[in-house]
Amino acid sequence: MVDSVRIVGIGGSLRPGSSSLAALQAALDGATKAGADSQLIAVRDLDLPLYNPHRDVPDPALQFADIAYRADAMIWSTPTYHGSVSGSFKNALDWLILLADRDPPYLSNKPIGLVTTAGGVQGLQAINSMDFIVRALRAWAVPLVMPVAQSWQAFSPEGHITDESVTRQLHVLGEEVVRAAHQFRRDGSCDYSDEQQFAGVATG
Ligand SMILES: Cc1cc2nc3c(=O)[nH]c(=O)nc-3n(C[C@H](O)[C@H](O)[C@H](O)COP(=O)(O)O)c2cc1C
Repeated sequence: MVDSVRIVGIGGSLRPGSSSLAALQAALDGATKAGADSQLIAVRDLDLPLYNPHRDVPDPALQFADIAYRADAMIWSTPTYHGSVSGSFKNALDWLILLADRDPPYLSNKPIGLVTTAGGVQGLQAINSMDFIVRALRAWAVPLVMPVAQSWQAFSPEGHITDESVTRQLHVLGEEVVRAAHQFRRDGSCDYSDEQQFAGVATG
């Protein structure tokens, strides 16, 4: 019997009826169906202050960082704002600086599935923005991504998915993240310890 992998989802907007939050839930449902233990963290519920290195670290930031660190893999879901990720979503990720001194640091060796909902057709820009952040945090983006274009057509105002094909694709993304998490677990990690090979290569 293979131990189940732990998948943590972070995302959604601050808006009630957030479509990116509903999309995240659907992707996590796919992960759960594929045998994972899944946990959803809504950015709205975290209610984090803007990251400021000169203030005391709030408990929700510590808890979020710890939960992210213990995950085998993550799914990120942001609304597309001005051709990129939303400020509140990025702020939550900025607090992961708390993982800088862990061993291994940040989100090393974790596959991340990427989802966005966009009012127009610029969702891939938010996906690409997340891809940069994934790499800065030493994680690995799962190749299958899910930018939901014209979200008003696929979600009700209350934040329910109304397009069955969107649900199906989000489930597949969740399954794919679970598959990648098992793969990383089987292979141990992607080992950077060969300093000779990586000498001079920036990883931050
Ligand atoms: C501040 C702001 C900026 C936005 N910028 C874009 C954009 O650049 N491209 C786009 O396709 N949609 C844009 N939208 C529309 C949102 O991406 C869309 O409504 C999305 O589904 C919102 O996610 P939510 O339901 O989780 O709040 C923007 C919305 C807001 C409020």
